[in-house]
Amino acid sequence: MSKKHSMLILSGDGIGPEVMVEVKKVIAWFSTNTGLEFDISEDHVGGRAYDDYGVPLSEDALAKAKLVDAVMFGAVGGSKWDGVDYDKRPEAGLLTLRKELNLFANLRPAMCFEPLVDASSLKPELVSGLDIMIVRELTGGVYFGEPRGITNLGNGQRRGVNTQVYETYEIHRIAHVAFELAKKRNGLVTSSEKSNVMESGLLWREELEVIAKDYPNVRLEHMLADNCGMQLVRAPKQFDVIVTDNLFGDMLSDVAAMLTGSLGMLPSASLGEVGMGALYEPVHGSAPDIAGKGIANPIATILSFAMALRYTYDEPSAADLVEGAINEVLANNYRTADIDQSGMKLVSTSEMGNHIVDALDKLSN
Ligand code: IPM
Ligand code: MG
Repeated sequence: MSKKHSMLILSGDGIGPEVMVEVKKVIAWFSTNTGLEFDISEDHVGGRAYDDYGVPLSEDALAKAKLVDAVMFGAVGGSKWDGVDYDKRPEAGLLTLRKELNLFANLRPAMCFEPLVDASSLKPELVSGLDIMIVRELTGGVYFGEPRGITNLGNGQRRGVNTQVYETYEIHRIAHVAFELAKKRNGLVTSSEKSNVMESGLLWREELEVIAKDYPNVRLEHMLADNCGMQLVRAPKQFDVIVTDNLFGDMLSDVAAMLTGSLGMLPSASLGEVGMGALYEPVHGSAPDIAGKGIANPIATILSFAMALRYTYDEPSAADLVEGAINEVLANNYRTADIDQSGMKLVSTSEMGNHIVDALDKLSN
């Protein structure tokens, strides 16, 4: 009997629904051609959910997200919702999911596909063979810290406050994720904070040292976050696993994404305690400027599905196959606009999805 893997698809806003259509083609391919079967439900999130339900994530959608093995998430946000109450903005739907599902570990691999070395804004020799794993803490820090808010001081002045806060257990659990990954990779963890300015960064650094003692075969180094940003564009191949907080991780992962050629290439996995739910999403946002034009790159989302195969569904060979198919399509010079170069074959979102499905056919025969 074939296994049925449960999945909730939340496509969201902007290019989210467009790129998700291509993921569905890949899922359909697996259902037709292999024993892998998915039990899929769908709902709205972000601005789309706000329009339909008046909230960026309905109770119902949240309940479904808690029940499934994994959530496939598109993107949220757009200027259409600029005026809505802050706690109902599209992004709040995503943040609620992360918090409610306790998805504290956000894995953002920045890998350079060899056919794309020339698409990077860095020199090819700097990014060829690049393979970095950014481990971003996702349920703490300044994103969720209290107190927060904007207060009126009454004298024509207002005060905006957010709080950067971390407790030992939060640092320990994300550190374990980073060290476990490094153990299976190249044995180096770079921890990034601003311990020269922030006490929360100092605590982060000290607690990383505590956990490092459990991993004698992994080397731990500390790098201030500003320097880390600089080193990522100077000599990115010096890194293996980078572990950092929620805010620095947000920023550094966008930088790392660009090294790989385009933000349209970077997938992510958001994981909680083992077996306790997971969410997979492309790192790029809703890109309202290109939404509806059929030119978005679906690869980041399809790679996110590959991460789901690897980390949630325990189907590593299926994950390898998806990644191999993407490499094949790139090697055959098919490019969406974001990674296009002269001499390449420019394709639409849906053509890219079709080529990936064709490559799955080819590689599996
Ligand atoms: C990301 C995004 C989100 C974040 C936004 C959409 C809330 O930028 O996942 O990187 O800031 O975490
Ligand atoms: Mg971001």
